[in-house]
Amino acid sequence: MQSYSHSHYLAITLITTVLLLGSTQAQATEITPASMLANSCAGCHGTDGHSPGAIPAIAGKSTEFIETALKDFRSGNKASTVMERHAKGYTDEEIKLLAEYFASQK
Ligand code: HEC
Repeated sequence: MQSYSHSHYLAITLITTVLLLGSTQAQATEITPASMLANSCAGCHGTDGHSPGAIPAIAGKSTEFIETALKDFRSGNKASTVMERHAKGYTDEEIKLLAEYFASQK
């Protein structure tokens, strides 16, 4: 019995290790210009726009919504606390990349 539970424990450890390694690889995101731009939003909006807190999640919102929101923040058309300052740092092209990136997140 002693040896059975021991090997059972080993098997579980092995399976867990394989699962952990597998999931680490699956999560290794490809680095693209869009994902690098998106990194600077993660501090507030969460990893890939999955906000864990009070700041709105942006993952999975439509490209059009995100693009329009960023341009309106940038121009001051849309009231904001921090997004106006943030959006000012991006060109139209970068805003499009960001919008497409976050829209493609689940
Ligand atoms: C310093 C924290 C912070 C950072 C960094 C930040 N945001 Fe925001 N974001 C906010 C807050 C707070 C709001 C709510 C509007 C406001 O008060 O500015 C918001 C709102 C938004 C909205 C509108 C969401 C909605 O549902 O109305 C979008 C889209 C957005 N942010 C995109 C981005 C993108 C893209 C980036 C990276 C380029 C980014 N944000 C970086 C804090 C941040």
